[in-house]
Amino acid sequence: MAKKLLRTLAGERTDTPPVWMMRQAGRHLPEYRETRSRAGDFLALCYTPELAAEVTLQPIRRYGLDAAILFADILLLPDALGLEVRFVEGDGPRLSTVNTRADLDALHPPDAIHQHLAPVYDTLRIVSGNLPSETALIGFAGAPWTVATYMIAGMGVPGQDPAHALKAEQPALFDALIERLTDATIAYLSAQIEAGAEVVKLFDSWAGSLAGEDFEIYAVEPTRRIVTALKSRHPDTPVIAFPREAGERYAGFARRTGADCVALDGSVDPAWAARHVQKDGPVQGNLAPRHLVAGGDALIRETRSILKAFQAGPHVFNLGHGITPDASPDNVHLMIDTVRHRR
Ligand code: CP3
Repeated sequence: MAKKLLRTLAGERTDTPPVWMMRQAGRHLPEYRETRSRAGDFLALCYTPELAAEVTLQPIRRYGLDAAILFADILLLPDALGLEVRFVEGDGPRLSTVNTRADLDALHPPDAIHQHLAPVYDTLRIVSGNLPSETALIGFAGAPWTVATYMIAGMGVPGQDPAHALKAEQPALFDALIERLTDATIAYLSAQIEAGAEVVKLFDSWAGSLAGEDFEIYAVEPTRRIVTALKSRHPDTPVIAFPREAGERYAGFARRTGADCVALDGSVDPAWAARHVQKDGPVQGNLAPRHLVAGGDALIRETRSILKAFQAGPHVFNLGHGITPDASPDNVHLMIDTVRHRR
């Protein structure tokens, strides 16, 4: 029988939904911290296939989730395009920036990224050969707008102001950057699928800051282009889109982009999403990660209420955003048991 996640993404309503967690491979696990310290730093861990495969598999061993997500980062693509990318402990990413035509012209061409990203493909091959037969393997990339916000600002900034400013002041340059990222993302995700990813996910973490027409041009359209290109090469590989904080614009997003499933953030009311988003196909989400810190009755109650809201159609149980470092593995077990046993 096909893997539960793949059945759900094909539109099937399974007895209980498949379950996995955004950022499941990471700092809430002591075994992750141990492997990370062996690697040295975060980027070294991403680029060492044996260790990246190990941390991809750690949450599967511990929890038996229905999907493993590749251990990597959305900022490996800017790194492969030639920017300098560093992760500063406790302070997040720092990148050299793209703010001029010369900066853009200095980026490596889309096909040149593969040599740099070869370790990521190796990680997928290793994980693919070591996964339990019921577990699906998810590859991913950042969506062009979200990746551009980091490349323009050189770090994460509230409101993504530098990217909005470049978009307003140098629209041709900004559009060319989005185009370059769209092409590179198609090449990157295609190669991930060829290396063993059975599903791919596009993280558009900052989609919510795109207002009016901009949402259409910079969130919907690049996603549609990526999905269309992937489907022409890999028609059977489902795509999950995560236009975080899209609000009411979640409605119709799958239909307009061709994505097989949309991932809902924690601000979306599940009853509303069942009516306006799930009617078009599978949805993923959307427990608030804080419940995995607090646990208890509230965790059980909220998990059940999400299950109930989405019970009539295809649903992938997940969090509304990444699991936080202070989450307790006992609470993760409690969430999974609640999902798998309903009552
Ligand atoms: O989900 C997984 O377990 C797979 C691996 C994964 C990571 N990052 C590992 C990581 C995935 C899918 C991502 C996606 C990602 N990375 C996003 C989109 C999702 C989201 O959270 O909105 C974004 C915006 C990034 C960029 C990024 N990476 C930031 C801003 C930071 C620093 C802040 C933070 O969240 O820790 C990272 C670092 C990062 N990426 C860590 C991990 C496990 C922590 C690094 C460490 O200290 O070990």
